[in-house]
Amino acid sequence: MDCPVCKEAMITLELDEVEIDYCGECSGIWLDAGELEMLLDDGGKAKKLLDSFSQAKKVKEKHRRCPICLKKMLKIFVGDEAEGKGRLLIDKCPAGHGLWFDRGELRDIISLVSFDQEHRVVKLLRDMFCNECESDASTDEEGNTMIVNKQIYGKTRDGEDIYLFRMENENGVAAQVTNYGAILVSVETPDRDGKGADVTLGFDTLEGWMEQNGPYFGATVGRVANRIAKGKFTLEGQEYELAVNNGPNHLHGGIKGFDKVVWDAEEVTKENEASVRFEYTSADGEEGYPGNLTVSVTYTLNNENELVVAYEGRTDKATPVNMTNHTYWNLAGHDAGDICGHQLVMHANMYTELDEDNVPTGKVKPVNGTALDFTSPHKIGERIDAIGGYDHNVVLNKAPGEMGLVAEVYEPGSGRTMRVYTTQPGMQLYTAEFLDGSVKGKGGAAYGPRSAFCLETQHYPDSVNHEEFPSTVIRPGEVYKEKTVFKFGTKM
Ligand code: BGC
Repeated sequence: MDCPVCKEAMITLELDEVEIDYCGECSGIWLDAGELEMLLDDGGKAKKLLDSFSQAKKVKEKHRRCPICLKKMLKIFVGDEAEGKGRLLIDKCPAGHGLWFDRGELRDIISLVSFDQEHRVVKLLRDMFCNECESDASTDEEGNTMIVNKQIYGKTRDGEDIYLFRMENENGVAAQVTNYGAILVSVETPDRDGKGADVTLGFDTLEGWMEQNGPYFGATVGRVANRIAKGKFTLEGQEYELAVNNGPNHLHGGIKGFDKVVWDAEEVTKENEASVRFEYTSADGEEGYPGNLTVSVTYTLNNENELVVAYEGRTDKATPVNMTNHTYWNLAGHDAGDICGHQLVMHANMYTELDEDNVPTGKVKPVNGTALDFTSPHKIGERIDAIGGYDHNVVLNKAPGEMGLVAEVYEPGSGRTMRVYTTQPGMQLYTAEFLDGSVKGKGGAAYGPRSAFCLETQHYPDSVNHEEFPSTVIRPGEVYKEKTVFKFGTKM
């Protein structure tokens, strides 16, 4: 069982034939309801203890979760101010699975609640956990640290462990990510009535992500997202040939791109935000690209309802890098049908013209007078037939590298909104034209054409073959750095 505070696996201690879970990292103990009963069986004390913990107080939760049912634990009062004994806030599982004490709390609870100080187990607990914990009394009780919940998701065919990480903020926004493909697995966000829904397309199981994710649902895409014409480019006098996997072109990093590799993962928790940082080293020659490239992608959820996706990369040889997140969004819910009724604004006055293979010709043209003009709000479905579905890169109205608001989406049915901010110079608007219902998604959903939209913030497609486009090449000593923020909200 994992510690509800620091997520380390807890050690099981046997006390008088009763098993108690103890966290070696933060020295807290977990007493589940059955254990309490056995420990205190001689006077109905366990019941009294659990009952005296019935009054939950609404405080800013620290998002500790019951290690058994994973429900958010309630803060409960113990002690009586009237009796001048002070009051304590303790974590209790709402389903009654047990109580969580840190060392200071345990010491205080033993002295506050009228425990029989001579009870053998009380003595044992006091001796084991309460000595030398005077200064440890209330740790960070007033803090508002968000935690990352980590669970085993499964194994790859090579036996590598894959994890599912869940971050949740105090407003009911939750994001799940996995170290398989550094994929964004889900985003739950409330509608205007506070009702949550998962607004990203995907799969329930790791097998789904590993075997059916041809569309790149939620994926971190790289080394270079989007198309590279004929899978070829020349850099520093040398021609490179990449894997060709989309007609004559290279798409989304090749046959085994960043979306299909296993990343190292590290959780970081702070006040008001929680992050998972993934790191991967792409070897020199992988999918045909030059240089050993170490990249990271960090997902951070904060209490401002922002999901921040930050990328970094370093190489030992000049190489193109253009990473993006390929989440398929449907703000009405992942299985709510088509996205034609969503209203969209894109702060983009220009777009990159495409040839018949969907690769830029090099010309940058005004959106004015075309179906790509979302400089004022339009329903996505309004002109979608005229353009045969959207699969286009727009040029964002800001300098590359500068963070700015680039898209605003509103779904009138649920009231959900999403704003996109990025440092990237371009964004691919893709309305999932190629989905045909054959992929069985979350809850068995059959995702059809136009059942989602992607706003893939990135450099322009095929930049490595277009000197006139902002450069995607990084060299040894340089750091690739980009950031995109998805901010969720509602309106009436
Ligand atoms: C591309 C589409 C492609 C889709 C899924 C998008 O980024 O622009 O053409 O079908 O990804 O691979």
